[in-house]
Amino acid sequence: MTGDEFQEDELSPYAVPAERDLETSLRPADLSEFVGQQRVREQLELVLHGAMRRGTAPDHVLLSGPPGLGKTSLAMIIAKELGSQIRITSGPALERAGDLAAMLSNLVEGDVLFIDEIHRMARPAEEMLYLAMEDFRVDVVVGKGPGATSIPLDIAPFTLVGATTRSGSLTGPLRDRFGFTAHMEFYQPEDLDLIVKRSAKILGVDVHDDGAKEIAGRSRGTPRIANRLLRRVRDFAEVRADGRVTEEIAKQALQVYDVDQLGLDRLDRAVLSALVRSFNGGPVGVSTLAVAVGEEPTTVEEVCEPYLVRAGMLARTPRGRVATPAAWHHLGLEPPAGDQLW
Ligand SMILES: Nc1ncnc2c1ncn2[C@@H]1O[C@H](COP(=O)(O)OP(=O)(O)O)[C@@H](O)[C@H]1O
Ligand SMILES: [Mg+2]
Repeated sequence: MTGDEFQEDELSPYAVPAERDLETSLRPADLSEFVGQQRVREQLELVLHGAMRRGTAPDHVLLSGPPGLGKTSLAMIIAKELGSQIRITSGPALERAGDLAAMLSNLVEGDVLFIDEIHRMARPAEEMLYLAMEDFRVDVVVGKGPGATSIPLDIAPFTLVGATTRSGSLTGPLRDRFGFTAHMEFYQPEDLDLIVKRSAKILGVDVHDDGAKEIAGRSRGTPRIANRLLRRVRDFAEVRADGRVTEEIAKQALQVYDVDQLGLDRLDRAVLSALVRSFNGGPVGVSTLAVAVGEEPTTVEEVCEPYLVRAGMLARTPRGRVATPAAWHHLGLEPPAGDQLW
């Protein structure tokens, strides 16, 4: 990856394949290294340490929040804190109940089973998971039609850690079976500042305080983006300057990468611009909005909207998405007088 290469993926909160190894090296290894999310960290500590004192497997844990906020990192930390092995799979990989049965029957007592994107699991697998979570048992169905029989099978007590970017899409029965749900919030600039400095140290980047602050402030509240912007700014600093990341260098680099003062990226701005310019501020349905910017509705919903809502630019109303006056102002426009839709 070079600094001059500019891809659509640069600002995505999803990990692009080439950075997975890098992410591994930057992942916080335990709860003490996990920056921010004070409330989640404290709650989780109690859940884990309480169970450890009792010598039982802790409640199943659901980690919910937008991409790039540390769900996978936390899942690994949970296993580490418990001194357990982690087995990793994802909702889309569990297409048939048999896929899940194979996974479950291989578990050893105390294991952590991590299911990423758990909201995308197929229905039959999900139904099998209910019993597994509750009674550490699965019913394996053998044969088809009227001759089919179900064979109960005990599985080792385990802790399920599920991660989801859409807790709203989880069915009630699945949600109810988690003893603890951690709602991950966007990070404060101070926390992102610490994350940028920590990553810079690991990567050997010479970053000044005000340089780190500049990157942190434009990272969209997302550690994954903070780490990625740090690498992009480093490229810029090495190619165009002496390698040191100062405030000025960070500013120039981030301009090249199209990240604005608020950390909004091109897609965020495209959504706001469509909402304001094409739909006069809304209300407009999310799928119409997604078509207008040429994106999948799920991307607009899971990636753009949470941050735009948090930044006070967009409101979700029963009639559709609405731009707030702050959105108009951000685009350099005057909001229309009259009805207040937000
Ligand atoms: N609280 C944190 N402290 C430090 N780094 C973090 C934190 N949360 C996330 N990161 C960094 O962001 C990257 C993405 O986090 P990840 O756990 O993969 O997010 P998610 O699974 O929610 O998409 C990690 O590689 C890690 O370097
Ligand atoms: Mg993840």
